[in-house]
Formats: sequence, C-alpha cells, structure tokens
Amino acid sequence: MKRLALALSLLASTAVAEGEHGLDVPQLGTLPKEDGLAAWDRVAAVVTHPRCLNCHVDEAGVPLWSEVGEEPRPHGMHIVAGESRMGIETLPCQTCHVTSDMPNTVPHAAPHSGMDWQLAPVEMQWTGKRPDEVCTILRNPETNGGRGGEALIEHILHDASERGFITWSFDPGPGRSAPPGSLQDHLDDTAAWVAAGMPCPTDPAEAVEDATDTGAVDPDADTETGADADSGEEG
Ligand code: HEC
Ligand code: HEC
Repeated sequence: MKRLALALSLLASTAVAEGEHGLDVPQLGTLPKEDGLAAWDRVAAVVTHPRCLNCHVDEAGVPLWSEVGEEPRPHGMHIVAGESRMGIETLPCQTCHVTSDMPNTVPHAAPHSGMDWQLAPVEMQWTGKRPDEVCTILRNPETNGGRGGEALIEHILHDASERGFITWSFDPGPGRSAPPGSLQDHLDDTAAWVAAGMPCPTDPAEAVEDATDTGAVDPDADTETGADADSGEEG
C-alpha cells in the first residue's frame, strides 16, 4: 500500500516537473523582413484577441470581460486593480482567481492560472491601440519589461513552464474562445518575427533593413543611418 502511494506520487511529480514547458524551442536564424512582417500579422491576431487584451488594459485598472461574440465590457462587481495591478488596495484578484495549474473546467467561474492573477503593467496597455502600435510597444524595452527579442521568447517558455497567463489564454476552458493557432504556433511566430529584426508594418523601408542587418560589423562603415532606426515611433 505504502509502495503504491510512493509510486503514484513519483508519477505525479514527473508529470509536472518544474521548468518543463513542453514546447519545441525554435532556432533563431536570420529571416528576411517580409517573413518577419508575415509572422507579425499572426502575432498581432493573438495579442489583439480579447483573451490577452482583457488584462492588458489602461491605467484605470478595470479588467475586461468578454463572452464569445460579445463586445468586451468592464469586469463585474466593480473590480479595480489599483496601482498594484492585483487589487491589493481593495479586493485582491486572488480572492476569486486562485493560483493553480489545474485545468479550468467550470464555465463562468473566475479563471485561474499557475501565476498569481493580476493585470499587465500600465506600460503594456494594448487596449484601444492599433496592431501596428502594439507592435512598437512590444519591441520597445521601455514598454515591454526591459526585454530584447530573445527575452520575449524566454517569456513565453517561462509562462508555459508555470502554466501562466499566455498558456491559460490558449486553453481558457469552457465558454471562452482562444486566440487563433496554438501556443507552439505563437512561439514559432514570435521567434520568426524576432529573427527578422522585429519589423513593424509602419516602419520606413530603410529603418527595417537596418534592424535586420545584424551581420558582421564593418568598422569603416558609416553608421549614421543605423542610429536613426528607432526614431519616428514616438507620439
Ligand atoms: C469577487 C470575485 C472576483 C474578483 C475579486 C476578481 N474577479 Fe476577475 N472574474 C471573476 C469571475 C467570476 C470571472 C468570470 C466571469 C464570467 O465568465 O462570466 C472573472 C473574469 C475575469 C477576467 C476575464 C477573463 C477572460 O478573458 O475571459 C479577467 C481579465 C479578470 N477576471 C481579471 C481580474 C483581475 C485583474 C482582478 C483583480 C484586480 C479580478 N479579476 C478580481 C471574479 C472575480
Ligand atoms: C491574467 C492577466 C493576463 C492575461 C490574460 C495575459 N497577460 Fe500578458 N502580462 C500579464 C502580466 C501581469 C504581465 C507582466 C509580467 C511579466 O512581464 O512577466 C504580462 C506581460 C506580457 C508580456 C511581456 C511584455 C513584453 O514585451 O515582454 C507579453 C509579451 C504578454 N504579456 C503577452 C500576452 C499574450 C500574448 C497574452 C494572450 C495570449 C497575454 N499576455 C495574456 C498579464 C496577462
């Protein structure tokens, strides 16, 4: 009896081994700008989906609700996340959204994930923005949590290993739609976008070429244009 219990607990622990993300890690080569823009279109379809947007809201800190086929609307029960983004000032999100990596099975219950439920930081606001604006927010370290391209990929892998918010969004349980594609597709598309130098649809043509030109550095080259690659995005 004891031995059986031990065997079972060993089985359980290998199934949820820590740090296991269960994804194929894509190789980061170098891709042409066109491929990067095509990959961005697919990333954009994910990051503008309500499952992601409902947490990536403005400084008012009101999470959104949206049922299939309905326009997003403010979270019921007057929930406000506050500056903490997790409701510490009023009613913590975790009062209802528990932290658990078990699947979500009950429609209309407060969804849960393996990470403590909370809104994304204000600078990562994506609601009310055009997809090309979200593109520049995502590649700018000042608005993406200080991340370069590779760290964006790491962020997805880390999320998968903790069954965090991105992983939940692709498997949100009954009564909620998921963004197009799978988590693996989203990882692959993000990697392709990064490998192409994170181009955005509104980039001037030359700036994108500079961003993708990560080859050998010629010490005699005139770097005047390179320094401007990111200008013109503000405002
Ligand atoms: C009093 C309980 C309660 C509290 C506190 C609460 N929520 Fe919720 N939340 C719910 C319930 C219940 C749902 C599901 C509603 C439904 O599907 O009809 C929900 C749904 C959501 C959704 C929608 C998920 C989706 O995309 O379908 C988000 C986002 C959300 N809550 C964020 C938060 C945040 C952030 C906080 C803390 C600031 C918070 N909630 C606090 C009960 C709560
Ligand atoms: C429950 C709320 C919630 C949901 C749902 C959610 N996020 Fe987030 N997101 C956060 C929080 C909190 C952070 C900040 C934590 C961090 O940076 O790791 C964040 C940060 C991010 C970042 C990091 C910003 C950057 O540029 O590095 C990305 C990318 C991201 N989310 C993508 C997504 C995508 C894609 C989805 C949907 C598939 C999604 N999020 C759904 C709460 C959420």
